[in-house]
Amino acid sequence: MGFTRRAAVAVVGVAALLTASACGGSDSDGGTGSKNVEVFTWWADGGEKAGLDGLVGVFGTACAGQTFQNGAVAGGAGANAKSVLASRLQQNDPPDTFQAHAGAELLDYINAGQVEDISADYDGWGLKQAFPAGLIGNLTVDGKIYSVPANIHRANVVWSNKKVLSGAGITADPKDLTEFFAALDKLKAKGVKAPLALGKDWTQLMLFESVLISDLGAEKFTGLWQGKTDWNDASVTKAIADFQRLQTYSNSDRDALDWTDAEKLVMDGKAGYQLMGDWEAADLDAKGFKDYGWFTFPGNGTTFQWLADSFVLPKGAKNPDGTKCWLKTVGSADGQKAFNTKKGSIPARTDANPADYPKYQQSAMADWKSATQVPSCAHGSACSQGWQQAANSALGAFSTNQDAAALQKALAAAAQQYAGK
Ligand code: BGC
Repeated sequence: MGFTRRAAVAVVGVAALLTASACGGSDSDGGTGSKNVEVFTWWADGGEKAGLDGLVGVFGTACAGQTFQNGAVAGGAGANAKSVLASRLQQNDPPDTFQAHAGAELLDYINAGQVEDISADYDGWGLKQAFPAGLIGNLTVDGKIYSVPANIHRANVVWSNKKVLSGAGITADPKDLTEFFAALDKLKAKGVKAPLALGKDWTQLMLFESVLISDLGAEKFTGLWQGKTDWNDASVTKAIADFQRLQTYSNSDRDALDWTDAEKLVMDGKAGYQLMGDWEAADLDAKGFKDYGWFTFPGNGTTFQWLADSFVLPKGAKNPDGTKCWLKTVGSADGQKAFNTKKGSIPARTDANPADYPKYQQSAMADWKSATQVPSCAHGSACSQGWQQAANSALGAFSTNQDAAALQKALAAAAQQYAGK
């Protein structure tokens, strides 16, 4: 059981990550006497903040005597938070807990010795029973577990403005890329400003990953992150061409927009579609926009591209007892429900009741059971932070220079540098 650090990265594609319930804790507070728990995330607004607020409510009851301190740094996918966190960790000034994606991204912190082993708490909190055995196996690195997952998100979802689509005579969801291009052409012909809303680098990486899944299939796609599929392959060349064509339907200011700005184009009727993770369901709900549809990215079939937010106990945290109570809350049945019903994600625990969840999550829960799981590089389950940054910057450059050969070369070079590391 368990994996070596490198092997764990290789297996993450199979993972069903999940959460735990925990609490209590007999550790000392490190002598600081702090009762504050600084929780560092990038959930500052909309559905993300609503999810965090849900968790904080449960924490307040379950961890009386401890005080939640919001350390959120705004910016989708942690675009700003991760660099702030990196410099704090470097200066030995960690928050009491921080958000980290399960999988390869978490491994970065483990390898750097920045997070504590919480395996013993998993036993104490009953988390090994709360989560599927396969998940526990996938969370185990060299026999140890370092984080409590809060959820499972799905990345490969297209969100739409139903009114805009019907105005262009689009009555069915596209099932493959050919049908998607046809629908985008209809929107364009109707004068829709941005048939496909798009944002900056990491959102472009998400769109590109979805196209890769369509053009390569689940197994070859996963192999890209495991050193098993060659990035110079002709199927990747085709995916770049398809991705390039998709960009022609997007807003020209894409490189300046975060995901919520692109989402606004959909809400305002200026765009028909947007590829985005299912935090968008929660965000649209939080913003009161009701007339939206969703479907799996065309050509992805039953593939579920997963990622998971998890929380850790950093080395040197000022209030480890408080942090442990936070982690226990994150993994608890009540915590997972309060968080995930508002966040657009599904719980990792196996004991959740779908009837407690909004319609979108009910469909995601059903899909999760039967789908083929693949990881995400844009959200850390597939690749390390170094690899992710290299991919984001290659995509950012491509958005401007549209040099397909240069993009493929840069992606192949990144794989060469980071795969298996
Ligand atoms: C996180 C989500 C978050 C999204 C957009 C992802 O990396 O896992 O929790 O909602 O970024 O900010």
